[in-house]
Amino acid sequence: MKFDELSLEEAPIIKETIPGSKSKKILDLQEKIEGKPVSYPKGSPIAFAQGFGATIKDVDGNIFIDFFGGAGVLALGHCNPYIAEKVNEIQKNITHTLDFPTEIRLELVQKLQNVLPGDLKNNSKIVFGGPTGSDAVESAIKLSKTLTKRHGIIAFEGAYHGMTSGALALTSGKSWKKNYLPLIPEVHFIPFAYLYRCPFKTKIAEECANACADYYEHILEDPHSGVVDPAMTIIEPIQGEGGSFVPHKSFVKRIAEISNKYEIPIVFDEIQAGFCRTGKFFSSEYSGASPHIMTLSKALGGGYPLSAIAYRQDLDVWSKAAHIGTFRGNVTAMAAGSASIDFMLENNLASYVNELGNYLLKKLEKCEKDSSIVGEVRGKGLMLGIEIVENKESKKPSSELCSNIRDEMFQRGVIIEIGGHYNNVLRFLPPLIITKKLAESGIDICIESIEKIETELN
Ligand SMILES: Cc1ncc(COP(=O)(O)O)c(C=O)c1O
Repeated sequence: MKFDELSLEEAPIIKETIPGSKSKKILDLQEKIEGKPVSYPKGSPIAFAQGFGATIKDVDGNIFIDFFGGAGVLALGHCNPYIAEKVNEIQKNITHTLDFPTEIRLELVQKLQNVLPGDLKNNSKIVFGGPTGSDAVESAIKLSKTLTKRHGIIAFEGAYHGMTSGALALTSGKSWKKNYLPLIPEVHFIPFAYLYRCPFKTKIAEECANACADYYEHILEDPHSGVVDPAMTIIEPIQGEGGSFVPHKSFVKRIAEISNKYEIPIVFDEIQAGFCRTGKFFSSEYSGASPHIMTLSKALGGGYPLSAIAYRQDLDVWSKAAHIGTFRGNVTAMAAGSASIDFMLENNLASYVNELGNYLLKKLEKCEKDSSIVGEVRGKGLMLGIEIVENKESKKPSSELCSNIRDEMFQRGVIIEIGGHYNNVLRFLPPLIITKKLAESGIDICIESIEKIETELN
């Protein structure tokens, strides 16, 4: 498929100050009738009208480049016709089946089992629960507890695993959880190999990875570390919301080896980084390590809500109805998900993403060199991050400058979101079918916006 036919290649086109008058009206109504947790429109205030691949038209007719991609859900873009055709077909026949088998359900399960990496490839069981990533994480917690008869959990600093009680307990952001404590007990956070701010003050990626992995081994080995053997350890092999961190390639492998040595199930959370996002089908492929359990969602459903866990066949120790929910797999999402895997394979999407990502990263590396407020650019494939600081010497994080840059990009027609430990990382997460031309235009706008905000400082 030609990717340039999926998006509005003339984007961005901004007709007036945004939000425009129609958007404003809709945003006001939303504020009036929906509750306070609504968040994304606070940072990017528009009302969507239509989506085309990696572009969005708002209700005022402005056209944006989408560097947000529905928080990573829209790997194949908005309204991909290949997916839409399969969705239309299934919706004529069937709507909702809980976990009764359908041909499309089993087709998706088998395709998924075939693309899974390492020990899971054609050697896994799949369980669908509720439709969100958080639910997949809850399901992994239950399976690990069943397997080990233990209950502690080890997670990583910078982790994002979701918002339901169990998943929130494994999410590191303090502001998200402080009002809801206590969550599940005995969760311990250990450092992820975040070289730019390495807690062990190392300066080289491999040393940072080793120091963090050594610390993990230390708390398992030392009888006085205070950490009782946990039920599982969960890691994002390439960390997303925490700030788009790609650890040294030895890191995830060592974490998996140490977990195996101490007989702790290791869970790879591929909810954001899976399905070609980082230039491999799954981000753990960069490490060559295999998990006991993998959590999946976002792009799994081809743009529709779906989540699952995949785990080694020999770990299928739980009982009937151990993890259920009314929407335990949705037939529309399964049809879209099955088509989506075909699309990814037929279009060799992982290598397209890898190549485009490398090209864009090079451009951003030049920006890092030239700019005094870009601390670091990093990432893999189309999951890139730009860490904004007050200046390179102090490395002091600046969420204010970061949101100024995001706002400037928005006024110029590029939607991007912010993440990172200090809310100071611009996170580039576009649909994977974005063309080089659009991606480059968006990155140029990003660089110009950084320059403008930097100039205003002086
Ligand atoms: C790595 C990771 N795990 C879990 C989740 C939670 O998924 P959801 O928001 O669908 O519950 C997210 C969401 O961003 C995520 O990025």
